[in-house]
Amino acid sequence: MISEKMEKALNEQINEELYSAYLYLAMSAWFESQNLPGFAAWMKVQMREENVHALKLFDFIHERRGRAVLKAIKEPGKDWKSPLAAFEAALEHEQHITGCINKLMNLAVAEKDHATAGLLQWFVKEQVEEEASADRIVQMLKMAANAPGALLMLDHAMGERK
Ligand code: FEO
Repeated sequence: MISEKMEKALNEQINEELYSAYLYLAMSAWFESQNLPGFAAWMKVQMREENVHALKLFDFIHERRGRAVLKAIKEPGKDWKSPLAAFEAALEHEQHITGCINKLMNLAVAEKDHATAGLLQWFVKEQVEEEASADRIVQMLKMAANAPGALLMLDHAMGERK
């Protein structure tokens, strides 16, 4: 069984992950509007990953005889000033998610809930990757600043993500 407090906290994280999916889908739409289909495709793959994160939490809650409760997902915004601004926002968002995961881990440790801590360990590692990949793209976009050719090449490379 999972504690009521842990169940509520994991449910809040489901909402965070679904919001992440929504945010990246909104960014995908924005990249489409900018004629950057590679970035748009990358964001769509990211959206699917976020749905997987949400489902991991959803399934875990039920395995522990809890209940997933879905709340409204806030609006993600629709315009960014530049590809760099979009990825800076994505990086900032991932840093926020890392903070959420760390708080959940603190609660699991305080409650001596080893099963939840085990699940969260996966998320801790995932967040290292999530921040690193957003940061790498931010750095590449900074290098490509004022060079449309470099941006187009980067767009092509981004579209390779499966
Ligand atoms: Fe599920 Fe990108 O954090």
